[in-house]
Amino acid sequence: MKDIRLEIDKALSSLSSDAVSTLEPAVRRAQQTLADGTCEGNDFLGWLHLPSTISEELLTDIKTTAATLRQNCDTIVVAGIGGSYLGAKAIIEALSNSFEWLKAGGERPAVLFAGNNISEDYLAELSDLLRTRRFGIINISKSGTTTETALAFRLLRAQCVAQRGADEARKVIVAITDARKGAARTTADKEGYKSFVIPDNVGGRFSVLTPVGLLPIACAGFDIDALIEGARRMEQQADAPGGIIEQYAAVRNALYRSGKKIEILANYHPKLHYLGEWWKQLFGESEGKDGKGIFTAAVDLTTDLHSMGQWIQDAERTIFETVISVETPRYSLLVPHDDENLDGLNFLEGQHVDHVNKMAELGTQLAHADGGVPCLRLVLPCLDEYSLGQFIYFMERACGISGLVLGVNPFNQPGVEAYKKNMFALLGKPGYEAESAAIRQRLGE
Ligand code: PA5
Repeated sequence: MKDIRLEIDKALSSLSSDAVSTLEPAVRRAQQTLADGTCEGNDFLGWLHLPSTISEELLTDIKTTAATLRQNCDTIVVAGIGGSYLGAKAIIEALSNSFEWLKAGGERPAVLFAGNNISEDYLAELSDLLRTRRFGIINISKSGTTTETALAFRLLRAQCVAQRGADEARKVIVAITDARKGAARTTADKEGYKSFVIPDNVGGRFSVLTPVGLLPIACAGFDIDALIEGARRMEQQADAPGGIIEQYAAVRNALYRSGKKIEILANYHPKLHYLGEWWKQLFGESEGKDGKGIFTAAVDLTTDLHSMGQWIQDAERTIFETVISVETPRYSLLVPHDDENLDGLNFLEGQHVDHVNKMAELGTQLAHADGGVPCLRLVLPCLDEYSLGQFIYFMERACGISGLVLGVNPFNQPGVEAYKKNMFALLGKPGYEAESAAIRQRLGE
């Protein structure tokens, strides 16, 4: 099996000759403190050796649970937000047929997502769709108290019980949450739902290789053993001094220090959109603190070249770009001949569509380099579970190192609480009386 690879030469040419090498001691130190568990945030390092330590027993339990859900449901709704849904959504989309959805009687159950917004319309439309579905629910929340997820689960559970009866519903509702605390745990234990534990020492955005990601991915019909195998391969290489993980962490820090404050993750396949969303959270939530951190953005190309292309090429020169390039597409499609040739495309006759895409990618990379946008390129041999497993661990490990080199705790997220406090005060949540009075006064009510 081929490994993913990183190309950094086009980014290095925009940096001074020692910009990366001066960071090498900090990168090594970060690796060392991750390995010996002495870094900041060391109570959240459970993800570090997940690929090599996940047990066969847990994997079997996940696969058996997925088989039960697949047998009893045509639709599975995953309730979760942030790290409790983005990884699964990203991998499922990357591996799925883009139009699986619209095929009547597809082989796989539809895996839908809820609990990641508070939109009344979204939830009402979902509820309407589910009225004719034999649906099950995977309720994912580490804290077990997240409002978006709890609200969706409350609605979904009531509907599932109403449609299937309490006993049937019990067979198709699964909780993935803390071992002891939180409403999701209490409900699961009280109702006798099948449940999985999110380890205390694994933060949400690092949890895709736990049941949080693995159960929905297995429900969608994908090979979680191969995903873990790919991640394990990357874990084995991760300590290599100067390896691709260290290179990525070092180069992005060097670029940041040189004034490149925004990193754009670009893909050339629409089904990779959510991989960008997962990556944005991983790095954004890990590094964006203490007044520091690269702003993470993502674009779907060539689509967004017709919207954001102008900005990337020509606006303030504070960005760099990391391209995810897929070497070999899954299918083969050639450009056909057209007698009239009104579009002038006959010169491409017989060429693979992917060849056109690759030339667009190369042309864009060169144009961006000419426009002062340093480019890195991460090449995935193909879009399969093994490559995606490598990608996941590559990014997680690089994120840990990169955050430590930046000088922040990459494993906490104190800033996420601010909106919650205000929302609870505005909603008049019991226990928030003082905050409620203060916020109403601030709003002049
Ligand atoms: O990475 C994180 O920690 C967050 O994105 C959480 O995953 C997210 O806020 C959801 O939290 P919970 O799983 O507790 O519902």
